[in-house]
Amino acid sequence: MSTLTNKRIILGVSGSIAAYKSPDIVRRLQDLGAEVRVILTTGGREFVSERSLQTVSKNKVHDNLWDSEAELSMGHIELAKWADLIIIAPASANTIAKLCHGKADDLLSTVILAASCSVMVAPSMNQQMYASLAMKDNLQLLQKRGVRIIDPGFGEQACGDIGEGRLAEPSEIARKISEIFQNSLLGGKRVLITIGGTVEAIDPVRFLSNHSSGKMGMALAYASIQAGAETTLVIGSISVDVENRAKTIFVTSANEMHEAVMKNIHDQDLFISCAAVADYRPTKVSPNKIKKNSSQKTIELVANKDILSDVCKLKNKPICIGFAAETENYLNNANQKLKNKNCDAIILNDVSNSKIGLKSDENEVYFITSNGSDKINKNTKQIVAEKIINKIVKEFF
Ligand code: PMT
Repeated sequence: MSTLTNKRIILGVSGSIAAYKSPDIVRRLQDLGAEVRVILTTGGREFVSERSLQTVSKNKVHDNLWDSEAELSMGHIELAKWADLIIIAPASANTIAKLCHGKADDLLSTVILAASCSVMVAPSMNQQMYASLAMKDNLQLLQKRGVRIIDPGFGEQACGDIGEGRLAEPSEIARKISEIFQNSLLGGKRVLITIGGTVEAIDPVRFLSNHSSGKMGMALAYASIQAGAETTLVIGSISVDVENRAKTIFVTSANEMHEAVMKNIHDQDLFISCAAVADYRPTKVSPNKIKKNSSQKTIELVANKDILSDVCKLKNKPICIGFAAETENYLNNANQKLKNKNCDAIILNDVSNSKIGLKSDENEVYFITSNGSDKINKNTKQIVAEKIINKIVKEFF
């Protein structure tokens, strides 16, 4: 089950150049399990075709308050009752002003007035229009009424201006919507996740590390929070935004990660070891930059402590889930790690394939326990993370 499974969402598309992104928003919501119906305003129709939206949403696009045929199949009141959530993206300045005044002169504004579900608005307009006092007042008024605003981004606009007013990215919009539909699969549970790569100093300038971006770990963090868990993150080197609803501890080396995990593990119910931890570090860290003509041409290494193994050895250990980053002999190596580290499950991913695993936006994994292995098919890391959390809950809680 994904975050938006069985959720019914109306996407209102109003008149803004960013309406061309609306089919992508539909797809992102569907990827998370939602059924989507689209209401297209007259202005929106100028920027995106009904056919595109109909094709991606697999539903007739609703656009006319006075269409008696449409009213017979699903009229404005039925539409309003059908929805679990209405999101207007892009929301033009005119549409926002109409919401403030409670106007009901087209299908979208009428459905909003008739709806009792949550309403979200993702503004998109010229930066000067967005900065106007009228717009600020209008957005404040909507917020006061419980409408959630997805702030626009900053950057170059279609008109050539630079400023705030660009529609938030479809992935960001889908995330904000999912946040409303938290589940309680891990309600009352505490989860600690290690994320990213560790960095092992050679001298003040150089280091040993790896390509972990933190995408997989942060997707798990998001899924864990969505499932209602109190989530702690021990974060190494990453290149993604940090989930701000979690408790965060930042570390650099494997030693620091080991210390942070051991300090915080005692009251956890679940430990997910997603970090790419260096197995070795240089025996000595040179206090000064090693010179090109130095006699030292080799770096002697010493083994780091194994964080996952050490957590699995604790007397009152939490449920422990490790990862296996493999490039060959996949299932054998992963099963070996499951046994050697004595964890409850291992998630195997192929890090030799640049389309999945390290740095990529997608992954494909096997969830392995002593009872066998289950494949989680290739998908975005967010969806894979949700499926992993669902499997963990089913197996262990
Ligand atoms: O961050 P991304 O770019 O999204 O990439 C995600 C990922 C490929 C890094 C992730 O999916 C992944 O596979 N993480 C584990 C990487 C790893 O170190 O695998 P390993 O097979 O070397 O280690 C096995 C397990 O032991 C892992 O759970 C690891 O966190 C843990 N370990 C390893 C060494 C060590 N000293 N301490 C550990 O806890």
